[in-house]
Amino acid sequence: MAETKKLLRALAGEVQDVPPIWMMRQAGRYLPEYRATRAQAGDFLSLCYNPELAAEVTLQPIRRYGFDAAILFADILLVPQALGAELWFVTGEGPRLSTITQQSDFDALKPVETIHETLSPVYETVRILSRELPSETTLIGFAGAPWTVATYMIAGRGTPDQGPAHALREENTALFEALLDRITLATIEYLSAQIDAGAEVVKIFDSWAGSLKGDAFQKYAVEPCRVITQAIKARHPGIPVIGFPREAGDGYIGFAKATGVDCVALDNSVSPEWGAEHVQVDGCVQGNLASSHMVTGGQALVDETRRIVQAFSNGPHIFNLGHGITPDADPENVQLMIDTVRGR
Ligand code: CP3
Repeated sequence: MAETKKLLRALAGEVQDVPPIWMMRQAGRYLPEYRATRAQAGDFLSLCYNPELAAEVTLQPIRRYGFDAAILFADILLVPQALGAELWFVTGEGPRLSTITQQSDFDALKPVETIHETLSPVYETVRILSRELPSETTLIGFAGAPWTVATYMIAGRGTPDQGPAHALREENTALFEALLDRITLATIEYLSAQIDAGAEVVKIFDSWAGSLKGDAFQKYAVEPCRVITQAIKARHPGIPVIGFPREAGDGYIGFAKATGVDCVALDNSVSPEWGAEHVQVDGCVQGNLASSHMVTGGQALVDETRRIVQAFSNGPHIFNLGHGITPDADPENVQLMIDTVRGR
């Protein structure tokens, strides 16, 4: 059956006059309705594990803006939690986890088969969404890439340079690789369950891929993404996969061929002209407006949006930001971006 949804058509390689559009972190604190629902849930994790409220915040930006895709509301750090890590969020600072620095920490993790005990509310959110989304809206599921998830599990928090994870990788490679393998297997099961529940596309977020260089990038960013993508495609033929090796630079070149992803999401450290020449030659790309334009707005937003649409107009393209929208963004600037993309 020919695809009718704009996002799925782009992922199948179709070039469209008006690209489909959605936004990373589109359900988030810049929206007053999100803040209200989050207050109702209590804290962020309670919101992630409350299927009705998680579905509600996923739907909010669809109602307000009519994006072409909805992304499941959850977090990449639910997988470590399901594997037995402790996880909590410190207001104004970010996530905290119990750390993995030695073999005994790793040995205390739970087996992959048990993750669904923790993650089943997420699958329920997906089921609600696949019932409630408008027929033209594509539902995207997601997970963190093993390297990015490992950086949080090893350090117990976000780190500017992923130092603790690089240190473990060099000092105890066997433990580091065992951890990556465990996350890889858990991620396959997690994404597969999201697809069984109704996710139509899955995206793999490798937010810290940019700190892996050369051979390490191949081994710990490309290879796990390839393994996950191949497993998903073997189990769920026809399900498209989006890869996001953020700030990979030259690592973006050939990433789709090496991993089998259907689309490569670009951050805004590369120009759209460069992305069209070096990445879009292999297929669909997603991106890549700087999220700062959602704060500053004005003519610069319009000009840069048009430049991106133009640069990617000769191939399949999904319009998006280069990274998540920030809490200080103005909801009116989001509307201006959408109107510019859609030519209104
Ligand atoms: O994109 C979406 O709208 C879907 C939901 C989603 C969230 N996190 C919700 C969220 C997705 C896809 C993520 C991915 C995620 N989570 C990543 C990878 C993408 C990226 O941004 O690089 C990472 C690294 C995380 C881990 C994480 N979660 C951090 C570091 C933080 C704290 C920073 C912050 O923005 O506050 C979170 C919290 C988080 N995840 C929020 C949201 C909406 C804010 C929580 C709140 O409401 O207070």
